[in-house]
Amino acid sequence: MSLKFKVKVPGTSANIGVGYDCLGVALEYILELEIEESDKIEFLENGSLFSIPIEKNLIFEAIKYTEKHLEKNIPSYKVNIKKNEIPMARGLGSSSSAIVAGILIANKFAGNPMDINQIAKLAVEMEGHPDNVIPAIFGGMVLTAYDKENLVYSSLENSNDLYFYVMIPDFQLSTERARSVLPESYLVSDAINNMSKLGLLVDAFNKGKYENLRFLLDDKIHQPYRFRLINSCEKIFEASKKYGALGEYISGAGPTLVSLNYNNDKFLENMKKVLETLPNKWKIEKKKINFKGAEIID
Ligand code: HSE
Repeated sequence: MSLKFKVKVPGTSANIGVGYDCLGVALEYILELEIEESDKIEFLENGSLFSIPIEKNLIFEAIKYTEKHLEKNIPSYKVNIKKNEIPMARGLGSSSSAIVAGILIANKFAGNPMDINQIAKLAVEMEGHPDNVIPAIFGGMVLTAYDKENLVYSSLENSNDLYFYVMIPDFQLSTERARSVLPESYLVSDAINNMSKLGLLVDAFNKGKYENLRFLLDDKIHQPYRFRLINSCEKIFEASKKYGALGEYISGAGPTLVSLNYNNDKFLENMKKVLETLPNKWKIEKKKINFKGAEIID
Protein backbone atom coordinates (compact mmCIF):
# COMPACT_ATOMS: atom_id res chain seq x y z
CA MET A 1 0.00 0.00 0.00
CA SER A 2 1.34 3.47 -0.85
CA LEU A 3 2.10 5.83 2.03
CA LYS A 4 0.02 8.93 2.71
CA PHE A 5 0.49 11.11 5.82
CA LYS A 6 0.60 14.66 7.18
CA VAL A 7 3.45 16.52 8.84
CA LYS A 8 2.98 19.55 11.09
CA VAL A 9 5.90 21.67 12.35
CA PRO A 10 5.61 24.84 14.45
CA GLY A 11 7.44 28.12 13.87
CA THR A 12 9.90 29.23 16.53
CA SER A 13 11.35 32.31 18.16
CA ALA A 14 15.04 31.84 18.89
CA ASN A 15 17.61 33.56 21.14
CA ILE A 16 15.07 35.15 23.53
CA GLY A 17 17.49 37.95 24.37
CA VAL A 18 20.51 36.52 26.17
CA GLY A 19 20.05 32.96 24.82
CA TYR A 20 21.94 33.62 21.59
CA ASP A 21 22.15 30.38 19.58
CA CYS A 22 20.99 28.27 22.53
CA LEU A 23 17.47 29.17 23.71
CA GLY A 24 14.30 29.01 21.63
CA VAL A 25 10.56 28.53 21.87
CA ALA A 26 7.94 26.99 19.57
CA LEU A 27 5.00 29.29 18.90
CA GLU A 28 1.52 28.79 17.48
CA TYR A 29 2.57 29.18 13.83
CA ILE A 30 2.16 26.02 11.78
CA LEU A 31 3.65 24.57 8.62
CA GLU A 32 1.31 21.76 7.57
CA LEU A 33 2.13 19.38 4.73
CA GLU A 34 0.27 16.51 3.07
CA ILE A 35 2.57 13.86 1.65
CA GLU A 36 1.89 10.89 -0.56
CA GLU A 37 3.82 8.49 -2.73
CA SER A 38 3.70 9.54 -6.35
CA ASP A 39 5.28 8.66 -9.70
CA LYS A 40 7.36 11.86 -9.64
CA ILE A 41 8.70 14.35 -7.08
CA GLU A 42 6.32 17.28 -6.90
CA PHE A 43 5.80 20.27 -4.54
CA LEU A 44 2.41 21.97 -4.50
CA GLU A 45 0.88 24.72 -2.43
CA ASN A 46 -2.82 24.05 -1.90
CA GLY A 47 -2.90 22.03 -5.09
CA SER A 48 -1.08 24.60 -7.29
CA LEU A 49 2.59 24.53 -8.25
CA PHE A 50 4.80 25.67 -5.30
CA SER A 51 6.26 29.13 -5.96
CA ILE A 52 9.77 28.25 -4.66
CA PRO A 53 11.85 26.39 -7.29
CA ILE A 54 13.06 22.95 -6.26
CA GLU A 55 16.74 23.97 -6.10
CA LYS A 56 15.85 26.53 -3.41
CA ASN A 57 13.35 24.31 -1.62
CA LEU A 58 14.65 23.47 1.86
CA ILE A 59 12.12 20.67 2.40
CA PHE A 60 13.47 18.94 -0.71
CA GLU A 61 17.05 19.60 0.39
CA ALA A 62 16.38 18.12 3.84
CA ILE A 63 14.77 15.02 2.31
CA LYS A 64 17.85 14.48 0.09
CA TYR A 65 20.22 15.14 3.02
CA THR A 66 18.39 12.56 5.12
CA GLU A 67 18.34 9.97 2.32
CA LYS A 68 22.11 10.40 2.01
CA HIS A 69 22.59 10.17 5.77
CA LEU A 70 20.48 6.99 5.97
CA GLU A 71 22.08 5.60 2.80
CA LYS A 72 18.59 4.76 1.59
CA ASN A 73 16.57 5.84 -1.43
CA ILE A 74 12.94 6.64 -0.77
CA PRO A 75 10.14 6.44 -3.35
CA SER A 76 9.05 9.53 -5.33
CA TYR A 77 6.54 11.68 -3.48
CA LYS A 78 4.14 14.56 -3.75
CA VAL A 79 4.22 17.24 -1.02
CA ASN A 80 1.26 19.59 -0.79
CA ILE A 81 1.79 22.62 1.45
CA LYS A 82 -1.62 22.83 3.06
CA LYS A 83 -0.89 25.63 5.50
CA ASN A 84 2.14 27.87 5.92
CA GLU A 85 1.69 30.39 8.69
CA ILE A 86 5.43 30.99 9.23
CA PRO A 87 6.60 34.09 7.35
CA MET A 88 9.88 33.67 5.46
CA ALA A 89 13.15 35.34 6.53
CA ARG A 90 11.52 37.13 9.48
CA GLY A 91 13.20 35.37 12.41
CA LEU A 92 10.36 32.93 13.10
CA GLY A 93 12.07 29.69 12.11
CA SER A 94 10.71 29.15 8.59
CA SER A 95 13.95 27.47 7.44
CA SER A 96 14.07 25.26 10.51
CA SER A 97 10.49 24.11 10.10
CA ALA A 98 11.25 23.18 6.47
CA ILE A 99 14.36 21.24 7.53
CA VAL A 100 12.51 19.38 10.29
CA ALA A 101 9.63 18.58 7.92
CA GLY A 102 12.02 17.22 5.27
CA ILE A 103 13.84 14.98 7.76
CA LEU A 104 10.54 13.63 9.14
CA ILE A 105 9.26 12.89 5.62
CA ALA A 106 12.41 11.00 4.57
CA ASN A 107 12.56 9.10 7.89
CA LYS A 108 8.92 8.03 7.53
CA PHE A 109 9.40 6.82 3.94
CA ALA A 110 12.54 4.95 5.05
CA GLY A 111 10.53 3.04 7.71
CA ASN A 112 11.43 5.25 10.73
CA PRO A 113 15.03 4.12 11.34
CA MET A 114 15.81 7.29 13.36
CA ASP A 115 14.37 8.01 16.79
CA ILE A 116 13.53 11.57 17.89
CA ASN A 117 17.04 12.19 19.31
CA GLN A 118 18.72 11.12 16.06
CA ILE A 119 16.29 13.34 14.15
CA ALA A 120 17.24 16.25 16.42
CA LYS A 121 20.97 15.67 15.83
CA LEU A 122 20.54 15.56 12.08
CA ALA A 123 18.41 18.72 12.10
CA VAL A 124 21.06 20.63 14.09
CA GLU A 125 23.79 19.33 11.76
CA MET A 126 21.85 20.65 8.78
CA GLU A 127 20.76 23.99 10.30
CA GLY A 128 24.07 24.78 12.01
CA HIS A 129 22.57 25.98 15.32
CA PRO A 130 20.04 24.30 17.56
CA ASP A 131 17.91 27.15 18.93
CA ASN A 132 15.19 26.93 16.23
CA VAL A 133 15.17 23.28 15.17
CA ILE A 134 15.10 21.77 18.67
CA PRO A 135 11.96 23.63 19.87
CA ALA A 136 10.41 23.01 16.42
CA ILE A 137 10.84 19.26 17.04
CA PHE A 138 9.98 19.03 20.74
CA GLY A 139 7.70 22.05 21.22
CA GLY A 140 7.85 24.36 24.24
CA MET A 141 10.83 26.43 25.32
CA VAL A 142 14.11 24.55 25.07
CA LEU A 143 17.67 25.28 26.17
CA THR A 144 20.39 23.59 24.13
CA ALA A 145 24.15 23.09 24.12
CA TYR A 146 25.93 21.84 21.03
CA ASP A 147 29.38 21.07 19.66
CA LYS A 148 30.68 18.63 17.04
CA GLU A 149 30.23 15.58 19.31
CA ASN A 150 27.53 16.55 21.77
CA LEU A 151 23.98 17.81 21.66
CA VAL A 152 22.23 18.32 24.99
CA TYR A 153 18.80 19.88 25.42
CA SER A 154 16.28 20.39 28.16
CA SER A 155 12.73 21.76 28.09
CA LEU A 156 11.82 24.56 30.44
CA GLU A 157 8.71 24.64 32.55
CA ASN A 158 6.48 27.46 31.33
CA SER A 159 3.46 28.81 33.08
CA ASN A 160 0.35 29.29 31.01
CA ASP A 161 0.14 33.04 31.58
CA LEU A 162 2.94 34.13 29.24
CA TYR A 163 1.98 35.60 25.84
CA PHE A 164 4.23 36.47 22.92
CA TYR A 165 3.23 39.66 21.10
CA VAL A 166 4.92 39.02 17.78
CA MET A 167 5.57 42.12 15.64
CA ILE A 168 6.42 41.31 12.04
CA PRO A 169 7.54 43.97 9.54
CA ASP A 170 7.06 43.96 5.77
CA PHE A 171 10.82 43.67 5.17
CA GLN A 172 13.01 40.58 5.34
CA LEU A 173 16.38 40.12 7.02
CA SER A 174 18.51 37.08 6.20
CA THR A 175 20.24 35.24 9.03
CA GLU A 176 23.46 35.54 7.04
CA ARG A 177 23.22 39.34 7.00
CA ALA A 178 22.22 39.50 10.68
CA ARG A 179 25.21 37.32 11.63
CA SER A 180 27.63 39.30 9.47
CA VAL A 181 27.31 42.40 11.70
CA LEU A 182 28.40 40.58 14.87
CA PRO A 183 31.97 41.04 16.15
CA GLU A 184 34.49 38.19 16.16
CA SER A 185 35.41 38.65 19.80
CA TYR A 186 33.76 40.03 22.93
CA LEU A 187 34.75 41.56 26.23
CA VAL A 188 34.79 39.10 29.12
CA SER A 189 32.41 41.45 30.95
CA ASP A 190 29.89 41.11 28.08
CA ALA A 191 30.18 37.32 28.15
CA ILE A 192 29.62 37.31 31.93
CA ASN A 193 26.64 39.63 31.51
CA ASN A 194 25.00 37.15 29.14
CA MET A 195 25.90 34.01 31.11
CA SER A 196 24.58 35.31 34.39
CA LYS A 197 21.40 36.68 32.86
CA LEU A 198 20.71 33.48 30.89
CA GLY A 199 20.84 31.41 34.08
CA LEU A 200 18.41 33.76 35.79
CA LEU A 201 16.18 34.08 32.70
CA VAL A 202 15.74 30.30 32.60
CA ASP A 203 15.00 30.35 36.34
CA ALA A 204 12.42 33.13 35.79
CA PHE A 205 10.62 31.17 33.05
CA ASN A 206 10.73 27.95 35.10
CA LYS A 207 9.21 29.67 38.13
CA GLY A 208 6.86 31.97 36.18
CA LYS A 209 8.39 34.98 37.97
CA TYR A 210 8.65 37.80 35.49
CA GLU A 211 9.49 40.93 37.50
CA ASN A 212 13.08 41.20 36.15
CA LEU A 213 12.39 39.97 32.64
CA ARG A 214 13.36 43.17 30.80
CA PHE A 215 16.77 43.35 32.53
CA LEU A 216 17.39 39.63 31.99
CA LEU A 217 16.52 39.77 28.26
CA ASP A 218 18.93 42.63 27.62
CA ASP A 219 22.00 40.99 26.06
CA LYS A 220 25.41 42.19 24.91
CA ILE A 221 26.18 39.54 22.30
CA HIS A 222 23.86 40.05 19.32
CA GLN A 223 20.98 42.50 19.85
CA PRO A 224 23.03 45.73 20.19
CA TYR A 225 24.62 45.02 16.79
CA ARG A 226 21.36 44.07 15.09
CA PHE A 227 19.20 47.02 16.19
CA ARG A 228 20.44 49.15 13.29
CA LEU A 229 19.30 46.52 10.78
CA ILE A 230 15.72 46.77 12.01
CA ASN A 231 14.00 50.07 11.25
CA SER A 232 12.07 51.51 14.24
CA CYS A 233 13.29 48.77 16.59
CA GLU A 234 14.17 51.15 19.45
CA LYS A 235 10.90 53.07 19.07
CA ILE A 236 8.91 49.82 19.26
CA PHE A 237 10.82 48.63 22.36
CA GLU A 238 10.20 52.00 24.05
CA ALA A 239 6.46 51.84 23.28
CA SER A 240 6.30 48.25 24.55
CA LYS A 241 7.90 49.36 27.83
CA LYS A 242 5.60 52.39 28.09
CA TYR A 243 2.49 50.25 27.64
CA GLY A 244 3.52 47.82 30.35
CA ALA A 245 5.13 44.76 28.72
CA LEU A 246 7.35 42.49 30.82
CA GLY A 247 10.23 42.72 28.34
CA GLU A 248 11.23 42.74 24.67
CA TYR A 249 13.68 40.96 22.36
CA ILE A 250 14.59 40.44 18.70
CA SER A 251 13.10 37.14 17.52
CA GLY A 252 15.89 34.92 16.11
CA ALA A 253 18.04 36.90 13.71
CA GLY A 254 15.21 39.44 13.27
CA PRO A 255 13.58 41.50 11.92
CA THR A 256 10.55 40.31 13.93
CA LEU A 257 10.36 41.74 17.46
CA VAL A 258 8.64 40.16 20.45
CA SER A 259 7.10 41.75 23.53
CA LEU A 260 6.40 39.40 26.41
CA ASN A 261 3.35 40.15 28.49
CA TYR A 262 0.33 38.65 30.19
CA ASN A 263 -2.92 38.33 28.27
CA ASN A 264 -3.67 42.01 27.69
CA ASP A 265 -5.82 43.20 24.78
CA LYS A 266 -5.34 46.84 25.75
CA PHE A 267 -1.58 46.36 25.29
CA LEU A 268 -2.21 44.74 21.89
CA GLU A 269 -4.40 47.68 20.82
CA ASN A 270 -1.87 50.28 22.00
CA MET A 271 1.00 48.55 20.18
CA LYS A 272 -1.11 48.23 17.02
CA LYS A 273 -1.63 52.00 17.06
CA VAL A 274 2.10 52.68 17.50
CA LEU A 275 3.00 50.27 14.67
CA GLU A 276 0.56 52.07 12.34
CA THR A 277 2.57 55.29 12.71
CA LEU A 278 5.85 53.76 11.49
CA PRO A 279 7.31 54.12 7.97
CA ASN A 280 7.26 50.35 7.35
CA LYS A 281 4.17 48.14 7.55
CA TRP A 282 4.14 46.07 10.77
CA LYS A 283 1.59 43.57 12.02
CA ILE A 284 1.22 42.33 15.57
CA GLU A 285 -0.08 38.92 16.61
CA LYS A 286 -0.64 37.56 20.10
CA LYS A 287 0.70 34.00 20.34
CA LYS A 288 1.06 31.29 22.96
CA ILE A 289 3.72 28.62 23.21
CA ASN A 290 3.19 25.55 21.02
CA PHE A 291 3.84 22.54 23.27
CA LYS A 292 3.14 19.84 20.66
CA GLY A 293 6.23 20.30 18.51
CA ALA A 294 6.54 18.43 15.22
CA GLU A 295 3.89 15.81 14.47
CA ILE A 296 3.36 13.06 11.91
CA ILE A 297 -0.31 12.25 11.40
CA ASP A 298 -1.16 9.02 9.56
N1 HSE B 1 20.48 32.08 16.71
C1 HSE B 1 20.36 32.41 15.33
C2 HSE B 1 20.84 33.86 15.12
C3 HSE B 1 18.91 32.28 14.94
O1 HSE B 1 20.43 34.70 15.90
O2 HSE B 1 21.57 34.12 14.19
C4 HSE B 1 18.71 32.27 13.50
O3 HSE B 1 18.81 30.96 13.00
